[in-house]
This record gives sequence, C-alpha cells and structure tokens, in this order.
Amino acid sequence: MTVSVKSSVVALRTAPINPDHWYVVAQSAEVTTKPLGVTLWYQAIALFRDGQGQVHALEDRCPHRQVKLSEGQVVGNHLECAYHGWQFDSQGHCAKIPYLTDKQKLPQCSLRVYPVQELDGFIWLYPGDLAVLERQKMQPMGLPEWSHLNYIASFTKIDCQGHFSFLIENLMDMYHGHLHDNYQAWATAALQNLTIQDNRVDAYYTAQSYYRIDKIWSISQLFFPALRRLHPEPLTVSYCYPHWRSQLGEDFRICCLFCPVSETQTRAYLVHFTSLEAFPKLHQLPIAFRQFLKDKLFNSARKLLEGLVEQDVVMIEQEQQAYLHHPEQRSYEVNPTLGKVQALIRSQAQGF
Ligand code: FES
Ligand SMILES: [Fe+2]
Repeated sequence: MTVSVKSSVVALRTAPINPDHWYVVAQSAEVTTKPLGVTLWYQAIALFRDGQGQVHALEDRCPHRQVKLSEGQVVGNHLECAYHGWQFDSQGHCAKIPYLTDKQKLPQCSLRVYPVQELDGFIWLYPGDLAVLERQKMQPMGLPEWSHLNYIASFTKIDCQGHFSFLIENLMDMYHGHLHDNYQAWATAALQNLTIQDNRVDAYYTAQSYYRIDKIWSISQLFFPALRRLHPEPLTVSYCYPHWRSQLGEDFRICCLFCPVSETQTRAYLVHFTSLEAFPKLHQLPIAFRQFLKDKLFNSARKLLEGLVEQDVVMIEQEQQAYLHHPEQRSYEVNPTLGKVQALIRSQAQGF
C-alpha cells in the first residue's frame, strides 16, 4: 500500500502540541537551587528547587522589566531576579522588593505558575487548561522502571532542529533500523498489527534481536557486535501522546519523553532500561546489593543511546530543512503506522 501524505502535509509539519498533557521539561538532576530556563512550545519557563528541595515552575519573565527570572538565584523559597533583586514566591507573587520604602506597597503582579511533578527521574510539567487537568485527573505517564530494582536505566538528551512529528515518526517506523548499523538492537522488522485509540497508536512488529541479558557478560553485546546472536522477538512501539514507549522482547525497553520547543525545534529524553529479570536467583540477592548493582550500572548504555541519537538527528534535521525549502514536495510512505501517527498529531492539535 502506498499512502500519499501530500494533502495535509503543511498542517502536520507546523502542528501545535495539545497542551492538555504532561510534558517532560528536564531531568531531575538538572534542577537545583540554581534556576534553569527551559522552553516548552514557545513558553519560557523558570524551574527551580526551593530550600526544602521542592521543584517549582514559573513563567520566566520578571514583571518589573521583562528580563528572564532564570538568570537570578534562589533565596530561601523565593526566586530572586538578577536585575534589581525583586523576589517572587512559588505562587508567582511578588514577595519582596529590597528598596521598597515604608510608604510603598508591593505591586500586585503575578506570574503564571505551572503544575509540575518530580517523578521517576524527570520533571513533568502541565502547560494546559487547569480545568481539564482537574476534571480528567490527568497524571504524568511516569517510568515505573526508573526506580525498580530489576531495571538498569540509561538516558541521553535529544536536541534537534525539527518539528516533533519528524522525531515521533522516526521512533514509530522500525524499518529505519537500516540507518543504525552496529548500534541497532533489532533487525528485519515486519509490521504485524496496528491499534488506534484516542490518545495512542500501538504498532506491533516482529523482529530479530541480538539482545538477551541473562548472564553477567551479556551486557558486553552492547559494545562488541561479534558477540551478538540474532533470535526472533516481538517489537512493540507505542505513541502514548505526547511520549513514546517501546519494548523488544522481555529485556529491552526504550522510552522517549517529549518537550517540543517550537515548530522547528524539539527536545526529548531517550531513556533505556535493561531488565535483569532473566538473571537466575536475582530475587534471592540482598536488596542493598541489587541497589548497588543498579546504581553502579546506571547509564552504562549511554554511549549506545548517543550513537543512535546522533544518526537519527542528522536524518530528522534534513527532513525539516527539506520541508522548509519545499513544503509542497510530495512524500511517499509504505508503512501505515506513519499515517496513523500523523492523524493522531493532527487530532490532538485541533483547537490549539
Ligand atoms: S527586572 Fe527584575 S527586578 Fe528589575
Ligand atoms: Fe533510530
């Protein structure tokens, strides 16, 4: 089947996000008492950790002279602007002006405050309608494997000059293993089934995998291609709007947490989990030892992820440039997954 995507290509490649979801704006360790400026779909946001370790997210704009609050510092539980030292509390209200006279009152200015949660190693932020959040009791997707003793986590940041649709299409199209050569964990992918729901697309492929972690030396397969032995495994990839999850066999999981920045820029975090479930007698080991092993092996697959990301980003940025130069150019597609992904992006974008 050949699917033409000409008819609505313009809307797709400039489609806005649906803000009524939880997005990932930083890794936990990036947010300290030194404020961090991030951008989520054209909104500049200042993240900071207060004196109690709680993370807050405020509009990154000082109401005095409109400079970036993220250039300032945290004083106790307040965020202090670098320019004249005005301070703001976590509710976005001006709490102190150091040179205010006895006869003057604090101005009633208030900054936008974003709901934010620190969960499973990342900072999840909700930029949408608070009534929808309340009504639908929406929760961040989360990564249950992050703190689970049987999973070893690694992650890397993706910064690419491309619309988020190019990145999610890359992640949902398993035929692009062709690009990755020695980095790829799968081969000979073949789409078997597709399921569609309001907020997600699941694509079920079969594939060959070299990846099986059942002995202590198995992890060396990541670095020495000659040690790999291919065997058949199911490969599932899911667009759980706005994020992505995948699973290859039992032992290999990758997620991609999205922070679309603008129509031509996307940040994301690629997080990989190696399962230790296949190790015999794992559950008999003392918890302290299992935690030690988990911590010791944290980020052991980072180089692998960085290699994959580098190759993908080159392709995605070329797609973006090609679109900018020739938006009218027709693309041809034979993987029906991508049409469903595009339809989901468009339906989520409706009304924004
Ligand atoms: S601009 Fe922020 S205190 Fe003056
Ligand atoms: Fe890739």
